[in-house]
Amino acid sequence: MGLVLGSGLGAVHEKITSPVDLPYPEIPGLPRSTVEGHGGFLRFGQLSGRPVLAFSGRVHLYEGLSAAEACLPVRLLSLLGVRTLILTNAAGALNPLFSAGTLMLITDHINLTGQSPLTGANVEAWGPRFPDLSQAWSPELAALAQSQARALGLALERGVYIQVPGPQLETAAETRAYRQLGADAIGMSTAIEAIAARHMGMKLLGISCLTNKNLPDCMAATSHQEVLAMAGKASADLARLIEAVAGALPDPG
Ligand code: HPA
Repeated sequence: MGLVLGSGLGAVHEKITSPVDLPYPEIPGLPRSTVEGHGGFLRFGQLSGRPVLAFSGRVHLYEGLSAAEACLPVRLLSLLGVRTLILTNAAGALNPLFSAGTLMLITDHINLTGQSPLTGANVEAWGPRFPDLSQAWSPELAALAQSQARALGLALERGVYIQVPGPQLETAAETRAYRQLGADAIGMSTAIEAIAARHMGMKLLGISCLTNKNLPDCMAATSHQEVLAMAGKASADLARLIEAVAGALPDPG
């Protein structure tokens, strides 16, 4: 199982037993994360008895990378044998019914970055030129996460995640437009990673930690510090959920 942990969501790492950490700079060819709250290491260990490789800290398009470069950690996880990948992030809630501090299951995504990790020559050994994304996020893993959340008594919303390039946060007009496009949560990372992961055939589960409300008719200023603080609060819930999901995963075929 593979894991990518977003801004402020490092609590999940503490659940990993027999950990061995590899700092980002020791992994040849990987771009380094320059953003506060993105720890920057790969942890190998066990989660609920299952071998896990977990990246803490990811790299983003707004750091000046191409989508292909930003997705190298995901490519690496697949090449190391990961078949089930859990992507997490901190995201703003566009759906007015969703509260800050709540977790949201990603049922689908909109890639609004104008970039793709698949741009350029296709690496046939990794996947097809035109991968199908009609079911990008695994319905089986989503059902598993929902049943585990219910058993733990955790609220888990469901919705569509939209990725924008950032790093600036949204204007009210943009927020209104993204909601009308059908998105429930907004962030700056996960859609391109999902594309790279599906290209390589990994099964995907996505959980957003909703760190702030992002509503056009009552826009409130949002800071990165606030996002980190709220992610820190919700990350204990996220850690419990991911630990339970890891324990309930079917053995990879
Ligand atoms: N917008 C974009 N990215 C984010 C937000 C937001 O409101 N919150 C956390 N990441």
